Amino acid sequence: MTVIDRPSAGDRPARASAGPPAAALISAHDLSKVYRVGEQDLVALDKVTLEIAAGDFVAIMGPSGSGKSTMMNLIGALDVPTSGSLRLDGRDIGTLSADDLADLRNRSIGFVFQQFNLLPRTSALRQVMLPLLYAHPRPENGEELARRRLEQVGLSARMDHTPRQLSGGQQQRVAIARALVNNPKILLADEPTGALDSKTSEEIMQVFTDLNREGITVVLVTHEPEIALWAGRRITFRDGRVIDDVRQTPITEAPITETPVAGPSP
Ligand SMILES: Nc1ncnc2c1ncn2[C@@H]1O[C@H](COP(=O)(O)OP(=O)(O)OP(=O)(O)O)[C@@H](O)[C@H]1O
Ligand SMILES: [Mg+2]
Repeated sequence: MTVIDRPSAGDRPARASAGPPAAALISAHDLSKVYRVGEQDLVALDKVTLEIAAGDFVAIMGPSGSGKSTMMNLIGALDVPTSGSLRLDGRDIGTLSADDLADLRNRSIGFVFQQFNLLPRTSALRQVMLPLLYAHPRPENGEELARRRLEQVGLSARMDHTPRQLSGGQQQRVAIARALVNNPKILLADEPTGALDSKTSEEIMQVFTDLNREGITVVLVTHEPEIALWAGRRITFRDGRVIDDVRQTPITEAPITETPVAGPSP
């Protein structure tokens, strides 16, 4: 079996959830998304009400087609709801113009996808600088900001590499650095470890954990229970509804128990 080398939880700052309830950064009320397909209405999200506090680390689970990505796209201001309300960082996205939505997306939200979505012939450094082209005002020290984010995800020595010169885990780190370069409050990741082996997945989850400790709110979708264990809260969707919402002890806070080297078989 694989023994996870768990970092000590001793010096971590308190989570938002550990103290009094923080103001919700994400607040959905009766949120619905209905797609019209031919003659039929397909209810992808069905009156979802939930709040996510600043600083939380949330894993979203549920079967295929249960509405996880639809929820992520709404939280990410990539799509608008059919009905209900969604407040992001105090602003009701239903009332925003397309320009204001794009602005909110650029300023407040970073996205990470299962397939990394990198440009094939562009260096890691250039990939990470790309979102800065759309920032207002455009920072003058863009290259330095990108370098810092690549260092933060452990890629100091790979800045000039193109995606095919990088492993899957390294490519996902580039994608995470790109998602961070605009200094977002919320990091959204839709199955970020879906294309990675289990050891690399753990390394990527450690990156998300470190970012969350620095204060970024993390919401990720996963099909894997072991991945969901890294989060502080697990929300389960089915048929477009939330059917379960539990606060759990993340892997990095769980007490480390000794694993017997060769215990008797049960
Ligand atoms: N653009 C679209 N047009 C029509 N139907 C859609 C669209 N996007 C999603 N759906 C439907 O909405 C439902 C929810 O889809 P969603 O992608 O949110 O599921 P999911 O939970 O992310 O699934 P998976 O685990 O397979 O990624 C599905 O039935 C899907 O077919
Ligand atoms: Mg999905």
